[in-house]
Amino acid sequence: MGKMDKIFNELEQIVGNRVRMNASDLCCYSADASQIRGMPDFVLFPISVEEVSEIMKIANKYNINVTARGAGTGLAGGAVPVKGGIVLDMTKMDKILKIDIENLLVVVEPGVVQVDLNEALKPYGFFFPPDPGSFATCTVGGQIANNASGMRCVKYGTVKNYVLNLEVIMADGTLMNTGSECQKTSSGYDLSRLFVGSEGTLGIITKATLKIMPIPECRKLVMVSFPSSEIAGKSVSTVFSAGVMPSACEILDKTSVDVLLKLDPNVILPKDGDVIIFEVDGSKEAVDSAADKLKETLTPFASSILVTDDPDEMKKIWAARSLVGAAVSKLDPTKTRIYVGEDLGVPIKKLPEMIKKVYEVTDKEGLLPMIYGHIGDGTIHVGQFIDVLDQNDWDKLNRAADALHLAAIEIGGTVSSEHGIGAARGKYLKTQCGNSFNAMKSIKNALDPKGILNPGKLGFD
Ligand code: LAC
Ligand code: ZN
Repeated sequence: MGKMDKIFNELEQIVGNRVRMNASDLCCYSADASQIRGMPDFVLFPISVEEVSEIMKIANKYNINVTARGAGTGLAGGAVPVKGGIVLDMTKMDKILKIDIENLLVVVEPGVVQVDLNEALKPYGFFFPPDPGSFATCTVGGQIANNASGMRCVKYGTVKNYVLNLEVIMADGTLMNTGSECQKTSSGYDLSRLFVGSEGTLGIITKATLKIMPIPECRKLVMVSFPSSEIAGKSVSTVFSAGVMPSACEILDKTSVDVLLKLDPNVILPKDGDVIIFEVDGSKEAVDSAADKLKETLTPFASSILVTDDPDEMKKIWAARSLVGAAVSKLDPTKTRIYVGEDLGVPIKKLPEMIKKVYEVTDKEGLLPMIYGHIGDGTIHVGQFIDVLDQNDWDKLNRAADALHLAAIEIGGTVSSEHGIGAARGKYLKTQCGNSFNAMKSIKNALDPKGILNPGKLGFD
């Protein structure tokens, strides 16, 4: 019997028929939502922490790589087994184990889908705020692995602000908890935060205790158009300086607005420039007063301002916004959106400089960028689309991606503010981090001495 068959038999002892080795199943697990590809040798569907622990013991014994995977919505190749080995599909571990309103927390398995968690919390009047564009399908485990965020993190923060405890299986199969059910702690290293954003390179998350928040009473949108996206960028600092804290602050440049109108011609948006959708939430009085303050502060910059608090209208606007990235091919059906250099982050005051740089870089390459994203926290999505059959287009895109990532670093920003490093951006991470990359490497080596946990990610071998 060959080595792989022997390993297959041992894995089968643990998970029964929930292990696959046939070419078609392996192929399904060779990609996520990025351009990165890598074929696994085995795909497993664990249903308990005990199974995950036993699987890791075998992986450790035979030196087999292990890549954990949620819904595969990642845009940087984080869940792709670029160096082969086992893919652990965590989606069968999808139970909400506890909803504890008095303690302001939930305990969930990693395969719970974000939207299902929020549906379960709704009757209690609570929610788990991080809301990435993929919230309808992404899993909580994937969100934690990536430190996901989304439209409302300008006010509510990212996943790392909500993780109280993680149950983790380490590279050798041992179990540890990184925290507790306490709302805060000052006892030693913050291992919960270390695991948030570690993209499966330090251990496998098998359970998470998450903080939750009350659903705000009301929301209102103030949609403002500006003569240019640089002026739009500048207005964000002005809003914060005036003491307004929006619950969302989303830019849609003119190209993005055109895409949205092609997607839904009835969607209500200013049509005369680059737009920022400001959302405010809270009590009726707080929302009205924040919306008035926004209008007053932004009038000197604005071309036009629209306000709505109609729940159906707001739902349509947000639904259209969450599709804008994928919908860009509406502008030119011969072209495809490719996610590269797509979630640059800079300090808020540097937004106009970064936006200017995006236009400079893409102009130079003859590419049409679409700028949208969570401008309130300094994140801009640069949507680029090319003819994927044209090598020349790929060359332009790759040059633009290099230039954009490096520009963000130069401006004091980050190469990924929410989609993660994965296999796509390791080289940029090294440049961004300098010596702290070596500290990351030491941590990785200490927790995963054989390098079997999601190798080839975060710039590690
Ligand atoms: C969004 C994804 C691309 O904000 O992060 O739509
Ligand atoms: Zn985003």
